[in-house]
Amino acid sequence: MTSVTTSPIAPLLDRLFAEADAASPMADPAFAGITPDERDRLMRSKTDYRDLYARLKDFALPVSRETGALLYMLARSIRARTIVEFGTSFGLSTIHLAAALRDNGGGDLITSEFEPSKAARARANLAEAGLLDLVEIREGDALETLAVNLPESIDLLLLDGAKALYPEILALVESSLRPGALIVADNADYSPDYLARVREPANGYLSIPFAEDVELSMRLG
Ligand SMILES: C[S@@+](CC[C@H](N)C(=O)[O-])C[C@H]1O[C@@H](n2cnc3c(N)ncnc32)[C@H](O)[C@@H]1O
Repeated sequence: MTSVTTSPIAPLLDRLFAEADAASPMADPAFAGITPDERDRLMRSKTDYRDLYARLKDFALPVSRETGALLYMLARSIRARTIVEFGTSFGLSTIHLAAALRDNGGGDLITSEFEPSKAARARANLAEAGLLDLVEIREGDALETLAVNLPESIDLLLLDGAKALYPEILALVESSLRPGALIVADNADYSPDYLARVREPANGYLSIPFAEDVELSMRLG
């Protein structure tokens, strides 16, 4: 069973990626007007991320198609049953991860999003994919929503929300990561603190830059 290559999920993903490609934030005056330096500062800020993502609330900002496929393959190959995601947006990465859970025989995916309209779109997309029953969308700031009620053992963590918060979100989830758990962090270059933490084996991780914009790490046991 490979649900990402068959209907209804394959054509849905094609459509959602095509829509995301057609609506770039750079074409939006509210975002394109920000200088590259200011954009870089906002991407790295631990305090102004709400403002940045409010400006970006109408954009999907998904992982790349390749990273989506990578997420599916990793979750399948470790037979993941429990997944946590930081940053749902319209749910493209969530669909890949939930599809892997479905094909693994079931499981639970907890994902987090603070823009209500995005959570609603993700819910609709997951329903269209036939995957909503596997996913709990926690609405609100992940610093709060992922601080409580996590599963005892987590197989895979995707970090794809505000980049500056990667160390804080990792700290919330860390004690639940099982030995061998995988962490995929998208665009982690914006968080040097995070990279320093996972690249130091004394902190309990093996970590490598992978593909173009992913840091892939494994929790040591
Ligand atoms: C890059 S997008 C996620 C894309 C999604 N993973 C995908 O591949 O389709 C980042 C999302 O994280 C959300 N976000 C950023 N910081 C957050 C936080 N602290 N708590 C909850 N959501 C957050 C933003 O609103 C945005 O929708």
